Amino acid sequence: MKFDVLTLFPEMFETLNKSILGKAQEKNLIKINLINIRDFSKDKHKKVDDTPYGGGAGMVMRADIIYNAYQSVKTPKTKLIYLTPQGKTLNQKKVEELSKEEHLALLCGHYEGIDQRVIDKIVDEEISIGDYVLTGGEIPAMVLIDSVSRYIEGVIKNDSTKEESFSQGLLEYPQYTRPEIFEGEKVPEILLSGHHQKIDKWRKEQSIRITLKKRPDMIKKYNFSKEEKKFLEKLIEEENNNI
Ligand code: ADE
Repeated sequence: MKFDVLTLFPEMFETLNKSILGKAQEKNLIKINLINIRDFSKDKHKKVDDTPYGGGAGMVMRADIIYNAYQSVKTPKTKLIYLTPQGKTLNQKKVEELSKEEHLALLCGHYEGIDQRVIDKIVDEEISIGDYVLTGGEIPAMVLIDSVSRYIEGVIKNDSTKEESFSQGLLEYPQYTRPEIFEGEKVPEILLSGHHQKIDKWRKEQSIRITLKKRPDMIKKYNFSKEEKKFLEKLIEEENNNI
């Protein structure tokens, strides 16, 4: 997977050279190429923005400069994503879908915005990372790169994406490691039993319990097996008895 990031602040992306994404780049599993939009300004002061037509506060990024920056990386297979609070909210399903693309270009906005004409001309999709406004698109672009890269073969252990929260529609079960007793609290006995079938069943039940408590909206969408449904009904009954 290749990411081309169109940004005014390429230095912000240095953090992606560490940890798992750093290793993924070393192994050539992903490639992150940073394009400084400013390099495409023909102005002697390397200006990239101007005042808005019609007046108003703030500055607007120029269409021609962004267009030229994009042309420098565009191929017939490129999908250009503009990170903006106006976009569709990113979720795990979208992340998985994007991981199947070959080449993603990410446009990071700043100032009051970007000239609408270039958005209309080159952007394939607008994505937001949540209903709040950030100072620019760089952090959202990093969120997208991180979440998508996890689905690229070899970046993390395969099991991790299969078992984790959201991808299966339930939140993850709790994890424990040594010491066996911490501040008087013992690790749940079942996890020491070595009985893998029972452990799997216990973990599934914990997932259902936690999801019901923390994200009841997710429970409504989940496809329960008969046995799981019985357990859920037992939990709901328990809860009702406690009220
Ligand atoms: N730019 C500013 N805020 C943003 C958000 N929430 N998501 C994506 N891009 C943004």
